[in-house]
Amino acid sequence: MCGIIGYTGKLEAQNVLIDGLSRLEYRGYDSAGIAYFRENIAHISIRKTAGKVKDLRSVCDKVNPSTCGIGHTRWATHGGVSTTNAHPHRVGQVALIHNGIIENYAAITEKFNLGDELQSETDTEVGAALLNHFYSQDHDPKSAIRKAVAEIKGSFAFGILFEDRPGEIYAVRNVSPMVAAYDPEIGAFIASDVTAFIEHTNRYFVVPEYAVVALSPNGIEVEDLKGQKLTPEFMTVDWDLTAAEKDGYPHFMLKEIHEQPAAITQTITPRIADGLPDFSQDGVSDAFFEGVRDVTIIACGTAMYAGMVGAEFIQNHLGLPVTVSIASEFRYARPVIDKDSMVIVVSQSGETIDTLEALRLAKKYTDRTLSIVNVKASSIARESHYVVYTHAGPEIAVASTKAYTVQVATMFLLGFKLGLASGRLTEDEARDRVAALKAMPAHMEEVLAYENQVKELTSRMINAHDAFYIGRGLDYRVAMEGALKLKEISYIHAEAYAAGELKHGTISLIEKGVPVIAIANQQPVYEKMISNIREVKARDAFVILISKDKAVHDPSICNVHLSIPDVPDDFTVFETAVLCQLIGYYTSVGKGLDPDQPRNLAKSVTVE
Ligand code: M6R
Repeated sequence: MCGIIGYTGKLEAQNVLIDGLSRLEYRGYDSAGIAYFRENIAHISIRKTAGKVKDLRSVCDKVNPSTCGIGHTRWATHGGVSTTNAHPHRVGQVALIHNGIIENYAAITEKFNLGDELQSETDTEVGAALLNHFYSQDHDPKSAIRKAVAEIKGSFAFGILFEDRPGEIYAVRNVSPMVAAYDPEIGAFIASDVTAFIEHTNRYFVVPEYAVVALSPNGIEVEDLKGQKLTPEFMTVDWDLTAAEKDGYPHFMLKEIHEQPAAITQTITPRIADGLPDFSQDGVSDAFFEGVRDVTIIACGTAMYAGMVGAEFIQNHLGLPVTVSIASEFRYARPVIDKDSMVIVVSQSGETIDTLEALRLAKKYTDRTLSIVNVKASSIARESHYVVYTHAGPEIAVASTKAYTVQVATMFLLGFKLGLASGRLTEDEARDRVAALKAMPAHMEEVLAYENQVKELTSRMINAHDAFYIGRGLDYRVAMEGALKLKEISYIHAEAYAAGELKHGTISLIEKGVPVIAIANQQPVYEKMISNIREVKARDAFVILISKDKAVHDPSICNVHLSIPDVPDDFTVFETAVLCQLIGYYTSVGKGLDPDQPRNLAKSVTVE
C-alpha cells in the first residue's frame, strides 16, 4: 500500500526517485509525486499527478540538478484519486510522504486547530500540518517528529523534508515497512523496500519502529524517541537488479510464472538432508514439531489458499486437525489454540497487517509460531518464533504466482516433518514424498511448455462474465487459487466450487458457453469428478479439463483437455497451479488489461 523513497547524495535526485518509484509501483499506482530542494537551496518544489509514474515523468522538469528529495506512489485510502490527494503533501515548512493510515486524523485536526491549513481529503496532510505545527515552535526536526508521533495513532512510514534544511531527509515509521541504505560514493536512501534502490546498493537495514532517522549525503543517523543513538543492523540483499526487472518478458507476472521451478528448488534444497525434511538451518529444532496437537494456518489471499492446500495435505495424510483462518477474521475472533497448537503464518511480503496482527494475537496463546515468508527481515519474519524463508526472489506482479507454489512446497515439507515427529509417517514414506517433491520443478517445466495451448484457449474466456473452477479434495483447494487469479487480473467473476456441491445450488448458474475449469487429479474421487463434469457439460458449459489422462476425446466431458504429467495425486497441485496462472494471465492479456497492475489492487496490504 503506497511506495515511498527518499534520496540525498551525489546523484540527480529526480532520476533516482522516479526510477525507484517505477520499481515500487506494484505497491500502488493511483497517483505519484516527488518533492525536492530546488537548486539544492532552502526551497522545496513539488511535482505530482493522478496517474502512474510514467505520468509523473511528464510533469517533471527535463533537467533537475537537485540531489535531495522524496517520492511516493499511492494506493488511495483516505480521499479519491486526484492530484490534490497525491503525495507529497506540503504544509508550511514541511513536505511529507506517507505509507499507512493516521487513524485519529480527525481528532488531531480538531485538537491542534489545523482545519484551515488543509486542502486535500487525506489523513497524510493532517500529519504534515501536525509536523509543521511542532516544527514552527523550535525548528528542531527530531523534536517535531517525536512530538508528532506521540499524537498519532495508526500505521505510518513517513519521509519528511523541512524547507530550511536542504540536503536532509527525516524518517520515522510504525508498522508500515521502511528500509534504509548508505553508500559513501552515492548517498543515503530510505524506501518501502530494497527494490527501490537495488540499482545503487545492496546493503540495507530495516528501520526500527519508532526510531528517528536523519539522512544526509554524509550518512544516516538513527536514534530512539529518547534521543539515544541506535546502531543499525546492516544486511545484504541476495538478489540483484535483474531479479527486479522483466528480463525480456512482457510482464512481471509471466516472468514470475516461469521462475517457479527454480524458486521451488532454491526453497526446498536447503531443507532436505539425507532425503528427509530438515529445518535445522532455519534454527527450527526437532522439538518444535514434537507433541503438536493441532495446527492453525493463518494468512490472506493467495497465501491463505496456499494454506488451504497445506491443510488438506497435512490433515488427510497425518490425521492432525488443521484449521485455516483468514487473518482478518482470526484477529477479531476468539482463538481456540493453546501451547500444544502450532501456528503457521504465511505471507509473501511479511508485512500484511491483518496477518501480522493475527500473529501477534496467536503469540499470546502459543510459543509455537512459525512463519513462511518471502521478504527477508520483514515484520512477520521478525516477530514469529521461527521463520522459514521461501527463496522465490522478489515478486513484483500484484497477482502472486511463484510465492504461492513455494509456500505450498514449504508446507509439504513441514507436513513431512510433522509426520515424522508424530510417528504418523515412516522414514521410508517421508523419503518417497521428499523425492516426489524434488521432482516437481522438472514437471512444472513440462507444463510451462503448454503455454501456447493455454493462450489459444483463453480466446474462449475473454468475453465471459463468469467462470467456475471445480474439483474435489486437493483439486478444490487449488481451484480456489485458480479462481482468484482469474478474477483479480481479468475482472471476470470466478468462483471455486467443490464439484460435489454444484448441484446444491450453483449449477443453476451454468448456461451455454460458461467456462468451467474442471480439475480431476485425485484418483479416489476421479469417477465422481467425471460425473460432476458431465453434469455441467450437459448444460453446455465450455469445459477445460485438467487431468493426468493422456487424452480425453469424449465430447460429453470436455471441450479442451490439458494433460499434465503423471505424478502422485498430491503433487499435481504444482502442475495445476501453473496452468491456472497461465489461464488467468492470458485471459487478462487477451482482454487488453495489464496483469501486473490490476485495478484497485496493491501488492502489499499494510492497511486493515
Ligand atoms: O504478502 P502476503 O502474502 O501476505 O499477501 C497476501 C495477499 O494480499 C496476496 O496474496 C493477494 O491476495 C494477491 N493479490 C494474490 O494474488
